[in-house]
This record gives sequence, C-alpha cells and structure tokens, in this order.
Amino acid sequence: MKIAVLGGDGFVGWPTSLHLSDLGHEVHIIDNLSRRWIDAELGVQSLTPMDSIQERTRIWKQETGNTIHFHLIDIAEDYQVFKNWLSANRPDAIIHFAEQRAAPYSMKSDQHKNYTVNNNVNGTHHLLNAMVELDLDAHLVHLGTMGVYGYSTVGAAIPEGYLNVGIDTMAGETVRQEILYPANPGSIYHMTKCLDQLLFQFYAKNDALRITDLHQGIVWGTHTDQTRRHDQLINRFDYDGDYGTVLNRFLIQAAIDYPLTVHGTGGQTRAFIHIQDSVRCIELALKSAPKRGDRVKVFNQMTETHRVRDLAEMISKMTGAKIAWLPNPRKEAPENDLVVENKQFLDLGLNPTTLEEGLLSEVVDVAKKFAYRVDRSRVPAVSAWTKDIAEGVERDPEHPRLRSVS
Ligand SMILES: NC(=O)c1ccc[n+]([C@@H]2O[C@H](COP(=O)([O-])OP(=O)(O)OC[C@H]3O[C@@H](n4cnc5c(N)ncnc54)[C@H](O)[C@@H]3O)[C@@H](O)[C@H]2O)c1
Repeated sequence: MKIAVLGGDGFVGWPTSLHLSDLGHEVHIIDNLSRRWIDAELGVQSLTPMDSIQERTRIWKQETGNTIHFHLIDIAEDYQVFKNWLSANRPDAIIHFAEQRAAPYSMKSDQHKNYTVNNNVNGTHHLLNAMVELDLDAHLVHLGTMGVYGYSTVGAAIPEGYLNVGIDTMAGETVRQEILYPANPGSIYHMTKCLDQLLFQFYAKNDALRITDLHQGIVWGTHTDQTRRHDQLINRFDYDGDYGTVLNRFLIQAAIDYPLTVHGTGGQTRAFIHIQDSVRCIELALKSAPKRGDRVKVFNQMTETHRVRDLAEMISKMTGAKIAWLPNPRKEAPENDLVVENKQFLDLGLNPTTLEEGLLSEVVDVAKKFAYRVDRSRVPAVSAWTKDIAEGVERDPEHPRLRSVS
C-alpha cells in the first residue's frame, strides 16, 4: 500500500513508519517538524540524540534498501499544499499522528491553548475536507487517546468507543441507541481529541469516509525491532515536565538518580501500551478497515492499566530510586479506577507486551547511556491546570521543602 504517515517524525510516528516500510509498504512521512521547534522553544532535547529526518531516512535506505519519502508540510497551516500533495499522490491509507500531543504543554498559557486547538482541530479538519473534495477513498487511521473518556470511576469497563444507552421516549417506550461514549476531556489537548471524534463522526456519516480512531493509552518504551537496527534510527525519548509521559519519566528519573515525581496521592490509574505493540496495532488496524458508509471504527489501543503510585513503587524497588510526593499540577480526581475493554485488537491477534523487568530495564539502560544529555532543571512538571493550582504548586522535587521523600 501507499501510506501517508502524518507526523511521521514523532515518537510513535517514526517507529510506525519504519515498521510499515519493513512490511513492504510505500511510506511517505508528512511532518512540519513542529515538535523539534517546540524542543527549541522549551530549551530541551530528546534524551536520545535524534538525527534530522533526512538523515534518518537515509540510514534506513542504507540498512534495508527501502525508501521512506519525507515531505515538509504543515497540515494545519498549508491547506492548499497539503491538498495538492494528496491529489498528486492519492495514498491508499493515511495515518494521522500530526497533532500537538502534550496535555501540560496545552495548559501552559493562553497562547499554548490557542496553538493546540488551532493546530489539532484545523489539521484534522483539513485532512477530512481535502479527502472529500478529492474523492479520496483512503482509509484514515487516527491516533486518539484514552483520555477522551475521562478517568471517572463508574464501576463499568470502558467500551470501545460506543455506549449502548436507553432513551425514554415521550410515548413511554425505551429506545436503544449506540452513542459515542460521553467525552470528558481533562485538558485542552484532550479536548481537541474529543473534537476530532465529532469531526470523524460527521464525515463518516455525511461523506462515507472510512475512518478508524485508535484511543491509545500512554506509550512507554523507546525501541522497536526496527529502531534497534542502527544507532541513527533511534527513537525520540522525552523526559521533560511537558512531553515526558509518566512511566518513561519514572524510568529516566531512576536512571539519573532523580526522585520519582509522583503527583498528589499517585492514585490516578492510567492505561498503557508498549511502543512495539503500538506500531503493531496500527498494522492490525490497517488490515481491518471499515467499509464505505460504516460508522467510525474505534479501538481501545492499550494493553494494561496501572495506578501511578504502584508504578513508582515497582520502579523504586527495581532500581533503588527514591519517590518524591509532590502537589498535583492537574485538576483531576485524586484517585480513580480504570477498567478498559480491548477485545478487538486481541481478536485480531495482538499479543500484548506487558510490563516486565527486562523491557523496563532496557529503558533504564538507554536512559543511563544518554544521561549526560539531561538538563535536570527541565524534569519537574511546571504547567499548572488553573491559576489557583499554579500558586500552590511546589515545583522542584529536589527542593528541601518536599512533602515527603520515601
Ligand atoms: N505518546 C503517547 O503516549 C500517546 C498516547 C496517546 C495518544 N497519542 C497520540 O499519538 C500521536 C503521536 O504522538 P507522539 O507521542 O508520537 O507525538 P509527537 O509530538 O512525538 O509527534 C507528533 C508529530 O506530528 C508533527 N506535527 C504536529 N503538528 C503538525 C502539523 N500541523 N503538520 C505536520 N506535522 C505536525 C510533529 O512535528 C511531530 O513530529 C498524537 O496525535 C498523540 O495525541 C500519543
């Protein structure tokens, strides 16, 4: 297949591009490299030394003989350029990763809120709009997030996208319907993913676009089978307070002898997936495309759930790292349960990579190897969800006024 990977220079997009190229697909990365510019804005860098996208694709060609094409296009700003590219290339499938994906970054300031909404919602809408205009019957696979469901404890498993509800009619009957699971975003970033869902619902209904939305958990790990093949194919690896995600951050903190930063009680339960499974799920989703006229196909792309403090305790036990209990910069329930259905991917043959010491220590080893690149002052999470929280947040876990260090 000819596959366009929007956002293919990113943390999940890069190993996905390699995986699909390895399977023999013709891969075209479209990326505006905004993620690299955001590193420059924040004054941070990937823990791992990433080469330019051109250099990465050159090494891939050298190692495998396969070409991955790169096109520098901003899908949110350059509608006409993007549409012209789609028109000239007419891919069979489009994988859409190209969004600003950090919740803390999206909450940093009013400017960051605007940027995240404009970038994410316009990018997604430009894609859908252009597909209709060009009669492009490509299978669109979007990376959404488990965060669209919210993390409230309702005592039931979260279904894969749709909820079966009964609506009491005026005639006294109960009509049953499957509706999108009620959106409950916890940040501006998550809100854009909820808006994406509505855009998809409309375009699948109105224009019969074939769309799959993958509600992904937090991705952990860094290597895949393909990135291991050459030092210069290494994946990006974020550790800073905005882009670093919880499990990977703990592993890096352990590697650099920094206390594991647990926010609040650490009672937040989250869904996780290893990067190797993430790329495999995308392969499986591509093989299982909806038909024209079908509703949006939603998968929960996660393999396990964990409570944050349990993860911290496990990594502390494994590595000897201390735990820092910090005030929570987010506005969220201090504790939640999370049970998630993921039967569809299991039925398609996903064999989950669950948290086990071997893979956890591989991440710690990578982090130790590149520990010299870490700026410790960029590790704390400083983006607060509200002004009130901002005033109360203690920011530096190495500060002596920590509430407790176990
Ligand atoms: N990383 C995770 O744990 C995780 C979890 C759930 C969902 N997701 C979703 O998966 C997708 C990829 O995540 P990631 O961690 O690889 O993020 P990332 O920030 O590393 O990659 C996103 C890529 O998209 C590009 N991009 C952003 N806006 C663009 C635009 N307007 N035009 C062209 N390119 C643009 C960036 O330059 C970057 O290379 C995101 O949509 C994210 O919401 C990620």
